[in-house]
Amino acid sequence: MTLLSDTLKNETLTSHQRVEKIVIKQIKEIETKDDYINLLNKFYEFYKGVEDVIFPYLEQNPVAKELCSRRSSMILNDLNVLGQESPNSVTRSSPIPQNFEEALVAQYVLEGSSLGGRYIAQMLQKKGINEGLTFFLGDKEDFMSHWQTFKNMLNSIDTVDNFPILIDFTNAVFTCFGLIMDENYQLEDAELNSKLI
Ligand code: HEM
Repeated sequence: MTLLSDTLKNETLTSHQRVEKIVIKQIKEIETKDDYINLLNKFYEFYKGVEDVIFPYLEQNPVAKELCSRRSSMILNDLNVLGQESPNSVTRSSPIPQNFEEALVAQYVLEGSSLGGRYIAQMLQKKGINEGLTFFLGDKEDFMSHWQTFKNMLNSIDTVDNFPILIDFTNAVFTCFGLIMDENYQLEDAELNSKLI
């Protein structure tokens, strides 16, 4: 049986590699606390923008409501710890889900992004950033079991005919992140594609 979690992992691999590359590049460029605040604001813009449009769907489903929580509030706490009272305003709009399934795959990107958080935290610590790291460090000891539970929920969606639409939506959420991080994100993609052709 084709599982949605495996399908998304395989079909969004390129998106993941691209955003990972952007994040690593921007972490390498961090020199001051303000640079870190700037990075955190971008993560806030992404999480807040996506969560605002997906939680109305997730909250209608008892299992999703129990399992998923808004992580943007953790980013806000970190910004407060670093001395920024309110975040920069959210300007870029996120892909808008039309149903629960699309909301859930958007949450897949947010959940997955937290999986890389520990590595990001380590890179930041090497840069001398030692406060305002709770979002990246993660707050769940049982993080991998949470991830497995989330994937089980994802795999309860077995309408394989819809998978192509869900893959597109997931990639669109990745693109949203890429554009928040770097407004030339798609330009770079276009250049890359023209080299591949
Ligand atoms: C420096 C940046 C990043 C690093 C080092 C990183 C690293 C990782 C690692 C190691 C995993 C696999 C975890 C596991 O299964 O044990 C993972 C999964 C994932 N990451 Fe990242 N990540 C980064 C950034 C991001 C960002 C910015 C996003 C989204 C905007 C993202 C989305 C995902 C997703 C969706 C998965 C789940 C893949 C699956 O289905 O197994 N990651 N990441």
